[in-house]
Amino acid sequence: MTTPPITEATTSMTVQAMTGEEMVRLSRAHTLYEWSAQSKVDPIPVAGAKGCWFWTPEGKRYLDFNSQLMCMNIGHGHERVIRAIQDQAAALAYANPFMATEVRAKLGQRLAGIAPGDIDVFFFTNGGAEANENAIKLARQYTGRHKILARYRSYHGGTAGAISLTGDPRRWAAEPGISGVVHFLDPWRGIGRGWQDVSAALQDLEDVIRFEGPQTIAGLILEPVTGTNGILVPPDGYLQGVRDLCTRHGIMLIADEVMSGFGRTGEWFAVNHWNVVPDLLTMAKGLTSAYVPLGAVGMRRGIADHFADKVYYGGLTYNSHPLGCAAALATLDVYEDEDLIANARRRGALMSKLLEDLETRHPHVGETRSIGLFGIVELVKDRRSMEPLAPYNGTSEPMQKLGRFFRENGLYTFVRWNTFFTNPPLTITEDELRQGFDIIDRGLSSIA
Ligand SMILES: Cc1ncc(COP(=O)(O)O)c(C=O)c1O
Repeated sequence: MTTPPITEATTSMTVQAMTGEEMVRLSRAHTLYEWSAQSKVDPIPVAGAKGCWFWTPEGKRYLDFNSQLMCMNIGHGHERVIRAIQDQAAALAYANPFMATEVRAKLGQRLAGIAPGDIDVFFFTNGGAEANENAIKLARQYTGRHKILARYRSYHGGTAGAISLTGDPRRWAAEPGISGVVHFLDPWRGIGRGWQDVSAALQDLEDVIRFEGPQTIAGLILEPVTGTNGILVPPDGYLQGVRDLCTRHGIMLIADEVMSGFGRTGEWFAVNHWNVVPDLLTMAKGLTSAYVPLGAVGMRRGIADHFADKVYYGGLTYNSHPLGCAAALATLDVYEDEDLIANARRRGALMSKLLEDLETRHPHVGETRSIGLFGIVELVKDRRSMEPLAPYNGTSEPMQKLGRFFRENGLYTFVRWNTFFTNPPLTITEDELRQGFDIIDRGLSSIA
């Protein structure tokens, strides 16, 4: 099966039938925007994208400093992935989850070679929340226990179980959530108080485990490097300590690498920085670089073996969707052939310097944190009080002003509470990185 060549129209600025204004008007009139009061949303109309850039129908260009939703790790419009999707659609667009397909077979095998330790069996889903839903099911069915421990500073997805696991304010409207979820604190105590000592944090966690009853706890889920809730890179020893506690008490450690996986931190998976092997590892976003929705939960051999003669009670119509599997395989080729994991480390080293530079130049910058190309700037009223420039779950005039500045000046990133993110595609060049930081620098001066 041959596929027509990828034309200019597929990869560069396409002629749009609709104006940006019409896109926005109709999208707002007839579609519901997530996590928002609808009168407040002000979407950017997107007509096309390539590399680290996207643009409106009228040709206003934005440097994508958030890889859309921390997911387009290989950048926009990569021809290799587009072609793989086209070829797969022409050959076999869908086969139900009880079938075997070449792309499913290859992807399982390929991920087994990339995932840490003896994680070598995968259950494919539509995205990250469903990966976490199935991770909970696997942990519960495997252990025969019910409770799941999760942290307050976390996001695990918008479905019933995943939003119950979530610690941030997106959970509140979903309560009461699913039963058996117990939240605990992570060692980060906020911009003013900093990091708790590792041994104290582990002691606190062990207390929670003891008080809940270890024999009742099926799993403990965490983002190894917390994403939306602050790019929190744990101190050395913390993840290893959590791993030991879980092992000691027969609790399944679930690493949610939906955001931190696939090179974002400069390793295939964030847990690799600390040589920790979780029992279950969830992924999505960078798995296909968001070209097609696909998530997965990977499990260690022992868990997979448990289901050899026991039914796994879980399923999805689009489990192992061939388009998703084909997109993932091509995306993995791109990571490897273009050396993108190492590029995230190289560019990450520069980004860390550029972030430090912001700390020295701008009094509102309370702290910056990054690992690989996963970065955040946390703004404060002043460095003496370290009072956040916007409250928890809130905003403020200076933060809104900064957001407007970025948008007007062609920098796209997430501005959330008193923070904004620096999470560009792993393909970003040094020049593009500097361009982005130049806009950030000017933006911070504008609110000084
Ligand atoms: C750490 C983490 N887990 C889970 C999810 C949910 O993934 P999805 O939106 O694909 O369901 C997200 C999404 O941002 C995430 O960042």
